[in-house]
Amino acid sequence: MASSISVSSTASSSALHAHRLQQPFAEAAASSSVSFNSQKQGFLTGNRLFLDSVAPKGRNGGEKVFTVRASVETAAPAAAKKQSRKNDEGLVVNTYKPKTPYIGKCLLNSKIVGDDAPGETWHMVFSTEGLVKYREGQSIGVVPPGVDQNGKPHKLRLYSIASSAPGDFGDYKTVSLCVKRLVYLNDKGEEVKGVCSNFLCDLKPGEEVSITGPVGKEMLMPTDPNATIIMLATGTGIAPFRGFLWRMFFEKHEDYKFKGLAWLFLGVPTSSSLLYVDEYERMKKIAPDNFRYDLAISREQANAKGEKMYIQTRMAEYADELWELLKKDNTFVYMCGLKGMEKGIDDIMTGLAARDGYDWAQYKKDLKKNEQWNVEVY
Ligand SMILES: Cc1cc2nc3c(=O)[nH]c(=O)nc-3n(C[C@H](O)[C@H](O)[C@H](O)COP(=O)(O)OP(=O)(O)OC[C@H]3O[C@@H](n4cnc5c(N)ncnc54)[C@H](O)[C@@H]3O)c2cc1C
Ligand SMILES: NC(=O)c1ccc[n+]([C@@H]2O[C@H](COP(=O)([O-])OP(=O)(O)OC[C@H]3O[C@@H](n4cnc5c(N)ncnc54)[C@H](OP(=O)(O)O)[C@@H]3O)[C@@H](O)[C@H]2O)c1
Repeated sequence: MASSISVSSTASSSALHAHRLQQPFAEAAASSSVSFNSQKQGFLTGNRLFLDSVAPKGRNGGEKVFTVRASVETAAPAAAKKQSRKNDEGLVVNTYKPKTPYIGKCLLNSKIVGDDAPGETWHMVFSTEGLVKYREGQSIGVVPPGVDQNGKPHKLRLYSIASSAPGDFGDYKTVSLCVKRLVYLNDKGEEVKGVCSNFLCDLKPGEEVSITGPVGKEMLMPTDPNATIIMLATGTGIAPFRGFLWRMFFEKHEDYKFKGLAWLFLGVPTSSSLLYVDEYERMKKIAPDNFRYDLAISREQANAKGEKMYIQTRMAEYADELWELLKKDNTFVYMCGLKGMEKGIDDIMTGLAARDGYDWAQYKKDLKKNEQWNVEVY
């Protein structure tokens, strides 16, 4: 029997892996039967694999530098084309519209940051009677009561859902939010309070809230239970990830048992503004091999160069590891929170990609196309 070389796709081969492997692979191919179970660089027709090795430009593209044509034994058929999670059956959007909102009741509302934190963040739970069905990663709209300065009803504001689909009580009858109270000084030095965030943070149990949606498909979780999920959050941008993490570690689902790696990076200004850390501690105890979290406390921590500890500064400490993870087909990055964070993260990735000869802008485009790079910042 001919010897067989197996190129494992546990670390599902990316362009770079194939690139590094090309020489031994070519030599082996000349004399052996080769089994290769990644579709990324090769394509299968019948029982033959054609592997095109490419120069590292973008992730899926690039100049062809050399081609290996190897005969393979295909024990299993080529994997079916990945289905977009955005077309998933049962995913609903816009059940409730601003003119016909769902009227929920506030069940509980508590401030979850310390009194000395810069700004107030509240966690709140609303009743839905099971009528506002949503998935982890979606958002709802809230229509604040009253009228704007033109006498028109207030427009809805969007909030990322901070609970998993079963909700905080596990009965599919609630939805939770994590809301920062907006207060700022205008040009005249007067204090201005954001309409909807103040309405929400002031809600008392029993009071009503007009809910629209759910909306959003960008931040839906990957269905692969073996995925690596890297979550990048600033402040209340943690909301969708709390939903993800509950599904992964606090709940039992017949069709989903998370066995991959969830890695959360959370950036907040002070330790008194940390969000849901007790939950992460419990998750770490439940699944120490499947969950990591790293904090960036911007006003209390700095890096070796004395720079403010932003989420991207913390990520830079794990740059090589993160880059290796990003090369896998089943690594998914999610970013949520302040708009400004996106550039900082792009800056690190640009340097890392360049080391391997990739153009980050192109690489990211390919990741986005594969739904592996998901951003919702505001
Ligand atoms: C998809 C999505 C998800 C979101 N999820 C969340 C979430 O989970 N949690 C959360 O807290 N928020 C979230 N937001 C933000 C939220 O929608 C609101 O924008 C926020 O709560 C402020 O609304 P408001 O009604 O309180 O403020 P508004 O009354 O609407 O006032 C906001 C306006 O005030 C002005 N303003 C704000 N800050 C300043 C400043 N420093 N100086 C001068 N002017 C200023 C700006 O003109 C701004 O448009 C999300 C936004 C989006 C798009
Ligand atoms: N789905 C969504 O789109 C979504 C969901 C939830 C929240 N949001 C938005 O996310 C924002 C979160 O604000 P917040 O008030 O909750 O956060 P916050 O408590 O102010 O924390 C934000 C953290 O990010 C740091 N930061 C500031 N600029 C940064 C940059 N360029 N790169 C990386 N980190 C940076 C801040 O540091 P310093 O303050 O010390 O500079 C702070 O540590 C809000 O604008 C909210 O509307 C969006």
